[in-house]
Amino acid sequence: MCGIVGVLGRHEAAPLLVDALKRLEYRGYDSAGVATLNEGRLERRRAVGKLVNLSDRLVHEPLRGHAGIGHTRWATHGAPTETNAHPHAGARVAVVHNGIIENYRALREELARAGISHQTETDTETVALLCQMHLDQQMSPRDAAAATIARLEGAYALCFLFEGEPDLLIAARKGSPLAIGHGEGEMFVGSDAIALGNLTDRITYLEEGDRAEVTRAGAVIFDAQGREVTRSEKRIAAASAQVDKAGHKHFMAKEIAEQPRVLADAMAHYLRPEGGVVLPEPGIDFASIDRLTLVACGTAFYACNVAKYWFEQIARLPVEIDVASEFRYREPPVAPRSAALFVSQSGETADTLAALRYMQGKAETVLSVVNVTESSIARESDIALPILAGAEIGVASTKAFTCQLLVLGTLALEAARQRGTLGAEELARLEAGLRALPGLIHQGLTVEAECQRISRQLAEARDILFLGRGRMYPLALEGALKLKEISYIHAEAYASGELKHGPIALIDEHVPVVVIAPHDELFDKTVSNMQEVMARGGKVLLVTDAKGAEVAGEGVWEQIVLPEIDPFWAPVLYAVPAQMLAYHTAVSKGTDVDQPRNLAKSVTVE
Ligand code: F6R
Repeated sequence: MCGIVGVLGRHEAAPLLVDALKRLEYRGYDSAGVATLNEGRLERRRAVGKLVNLSDRLVHEPLRGHAGIGHTRWATHGAPTETNAHPHAGARVAVVHNGIIENYRALREELARAGISHQTETDTETVALLCQMHLDQQMSPRDAAAATIARLEGAYALCFLFEGEPDLLIAARKGSPLAIGHGEGEMFVGSDAIALGNLTDRITYLEEGDRAEVTRAGAVIFDAQGREVTRSEKRIAAASAQVDKAGHKHFMAKEIAEQPRVLADAMAHYLRPEGGVVLPEPGIDFASIDRLTLVACGTAFYACNVAKYWFEQIARLPVEIDVASEFRYREPPVAPRSAALFVSQSGETADTLAALRYMQGKAETVLSVVNVTESSIARESDIALPILAGAEIGVASTKAFTCQLLVLGTLALEAARQRGTLGAEELARLEAGLRALPGLIHQGLTVEAECQRISRQLAEARDILFLGRGRMYPLALEGALKLKEISYIHAEAYASGELKHGPIALIDEHVPVVVIAPHDELFDKTVSNMQEVMARGGKVLLVTDAKGAEVAGEGVWEQIVLPEIDPFWAPVLYAVPAQMLAYHTAVSKGTDVDQPRNLAKSVTVE
């Protein structure tokens, strides 16, 4: 959600803060702000909207000083106005915050009773004012911050800057990620390694409940019990902190195009060249479980939907799937001999993390499939399986989805092998199909011109339906989600067989229906549903392969023809046109593809 950054530098801090915020803008872009210490005095600049508004403002009203903090906001409490933008400040302290302070109302009342009033509607101002109250009680900045943090309930990553203290930042994390960056005579704080990618490659990740006193000499870290602790410093590979569009117009376009390469990287990690699956130690014993629970949100949840078909079909393993926000409060009974698997690109999604915590101690094994390997979800799992997609900056998930599918597919294969549900020949055939994916996706990218042409027409629609059956139903869901989140066109997905049970009432010549149907064992059934649409004047965009186009292409409005693929793995390939249709429709409509309204990349609040 929000992105935070702090700098104790040797040069002007404001340009460094803005540059780091630019790299964090994918986390929220309702407003942004920075505060620095100018000759020891706190000064702030804030602006509503994209970061560019803040940088423009800083051109006319520059901020001096070598120490500072910055923030890019995704509004939770209070509208995205300049007053509600971070940093928030008391007389001698400024604070940036990511997360939600759940007890802020009680703290606000307590402050009001002490005669301290708020200027904003935010929970973060309460943190600043509480800290200021402690400073007024003659506490040192370190003690005031510690006393403040001790009172907070909820989720937070915080960074404090104090008037008259040009060599001190206090950073704290609980429920939201935070990293400390080590420079030469400089120190940094950031929501993630990406933020600090232009400043340093030496990172220390804070753990849950940690508080750090950061000076240019280093960071002294205390754990949740107040004990001084050592947290290791890691070198971050340049690639994982890289944030550039590599010549593409949008991050999303770049990330779609990268899929063959990142899938090949992930495959090299999980498949032995001579054949067979490699899993991180201590490995996973699929033979000892009777049930697998898959939990995630959004696109990651749709990856779980596909995986359910895979695990059940080839490993004969019953799979329960749920969205994390429902699962966590449903308090489902957990059968003995079950494993739980959580899928998350960011690894910080609050609901998924809460669902994971619910399953700790109940499931035999808690697994995760994540992109960010230092994330909370990865750290709290028994085994974390990286998807190796590289930084995904576009808010609409693309390459993370296909890499999640690849890892889940590999697990399904391994489960089938361990459970003895597939013969050696069939296993080898499916593994060969999996290995062919990067090449097929590479070929699949060539449908872009078609997608672009068709999207110009889709952009005129008010509503669009997506249909799919079996393994392709989740792809219909993913196609509709992608389209609505970046083009703002209303899109719904249905299992093709459900059409007659209600949604068919929506069909007329103004509602394009995207039918995602490779020529597989269910193709004829889907074609019947497609005919029902066409019989009612509906216009069908058929996404299929050459065989499917030959059999059923007649009379359709438009079609996109993908390379032939083993139908079992088709969901991975068919993600590509779903992504491209959404992308080009959004481009045609002129929406902000990488930073669509109201959304943020990493959803660290519930
Ligand atoms: C949609 C999208 C979201 C995320 C969801 C979960 O394009 O990106 O639906 O998939 O917010 O996020 P992660 O995977 O980070 O847990």
